[in-house]
Amino acid sequence: MPASSLETIVSLCKRRGFVFPSSSVYGGLGSTWDYGPLGVELKNNVKRAWWRSVVHERDDMEGLDAAILMNRLVWKYSGHEATFSDPMTDCRACKTRPRADHLFAAQKGRDPKGLVEINAAIAAKELACPKCGSKDLTEARPFNLMFRTNVGPVDTGDESGLVYLRPETAQGIFVNFGNVLDTMRRKLPFGIAQVGKAFRNEITPGNFTFRTREFEQMEIEYFVRPGEDEAAHEMWIAERKKWYLDLGMRADNLRVREQEKHELAHYAKRCVDLEYMFPMGWSELEGIANRTDFDLKAHSRSPENPDAVGELRYFDQEQKTHYVPYVIEPSAGADRATLAFLCDAYEDSLVKEPPAGDTAKLRELVESFARSVGRREGMDADVKRRLQTASESIAAGLPATLPTLIGLMDDADANKIEVMKKVRGVGEKIAEEHTRTVLHLHPRLAPLTVAVFPLKRNEPRLVELARALKRDLQQAGLRAVYDDTGAIGKLYRRQDETGTPWCITVDFQSLEDKTVTVRDRDTMQQERAPLGEIASTLLARLR
Ligand code: GAP
Repeated sequence: MPASSLETIVSLCKRRGFVFPSSSVYGGLGSTWDYGPLGVELKNNVKRAWWRSVVHERDDMEGLDAAILMNRLVWKYSGHEATFSDPMTDCRACKTRPRADHLFAAQKGRDPKGLVEINAAIAAKELACPKCGSKDLTEARPFNLMFRTNVGPVDTGDESGLVYLRPETAQGIFVNFGNVLDTMRRKLPFGIAQVGKAFRNEITPGNFTFRTREFEQMEIEYFVRPGEDEAAHEMWIAERKKWYLDLGMRADNLRVREQEKHELAHYAKRCVDLEYMFPMGWSELEGIANRTDFDLKAHSRSPENPDAVGELRYFDQEQKTHYVPYVIEPSAGADRATLAFLCDAYEDSLVKEPPAGDTAKLRELVESFARSVGRREGMDADVKRRLQTASESIAAGLPATLPTLIGLMDDADANKIEVMKKVRGVGEKIAEEHTRTVLHLHPRLAPLTVAVFPLKRNEPRLVELARALKRDLQQAGLRAVYDDTGAIGKLYRRQDETGTPWCITVDFQSLEDKTVTVRDRDTMQQERAPLGEIASTLLARLR
């Protein structure tokens, strides 16, 4: 049973040290998150896998790490100062500030063509506040999404020290095009890859780490001869889709979607999104755009740009001519990819049947929950229908539906119903003993690669051998940990929940024949293997 709600993932992430709410000792800061010990390993592995695939395993790519703070003129000529904004309207009745384009799309059933059409609909009282229903809305205005800060010790108040926190890493690549071209003596086609933080003052952040104000991007700008751009675009769409699939993402959960003309960013001729089926529905994972020669031209000296010091163009030896290359941009989010891999890897499953009496008691409670939902007044009709359908089918299918019940026990709406407390009281106990939560992460992404346990922690010879094996595995370059804080079954479950692909148990036989038990996370099969071969076997499986 994969994760049915984002709450299930959020709950696992908090419980097991993947992601914590930021600055929680002061009550947090909305929609900002800190990656904990296992989360940072997972996200680093995602970034490493991306870098390996798009830089190290290709002959036509270079890497870059540009500064976050850049000359303000970069954002003037890139078009972000003028156009990087969301249209917002204020409700005069309840004082909320919804996004006007979303309001238009939700209430008129299609996307607006621009601010003018949105404002015509507002003036004609065709749009209503999503919170209170009032049609007394102000004219929609664009709000720029770039965070502003000031360079230098004194804020002069005249914007002379104004800089922005970059809203995309891409511009750092464009302004370094000439530097990379000259120093690496590259010929077209070639690309530049970069991983780094980006910042947007999003009006509606949310859905955990899916949309935040501070996030990390993994971007490529791939430079080609004009005319060769469309073939390169297709190549990158296929390459990037393959990357997610090679790392184990289920094909059914990944799709390619062509952006419609009115969705395109100001610089794009065409853009294709790779979308993932997140628990909240199909949503963008990565955008692959054809940015034409827009950016290199925009940062080249011309009558439109007297501030640039030179021209970002290319001398084609074969054609003996200068031109501005076209650019294909595969732009992925490191946080979004990490979240997608987590959702995709998550599974709750029944490992043994609970006693009939326990099942009957739980069924009664879940039925009582379903009745309670039915009686509840003032609840959103969709939420009510969802909770009722889910709980009725769980009650009918127990104990096989116990894994689904785990998702419902984490559901924020379900927890508003008093009876859920009782369901949890009984359900969590039964679930702990009879189900397991597993993250089927690709071994290259898993935060820990291998965990080593002694069969008995009060047996010094086993402890010594297990610790020595753990050290050997670490020295071989594997992310290995030692644990003896519980019974073996419990230790396996703990590692399953955080996605560790292999667990090794050192037992009494190990002392005699120097073999250990290697347990596979996905199949739960155990096999004996010689101590001396473990590191090379696991390293080979990681390749
Ligand atoms: N340079 C092009 C560009 O920035 P984008 O579609 O705005 O394009 C690219 O962003 C990717 O960055 C998205 O597909 C998403 O994965 C990630 N991303 C964008 N905004 C984000 C946010 N607020 N929070 C988390 N990830 C975000």
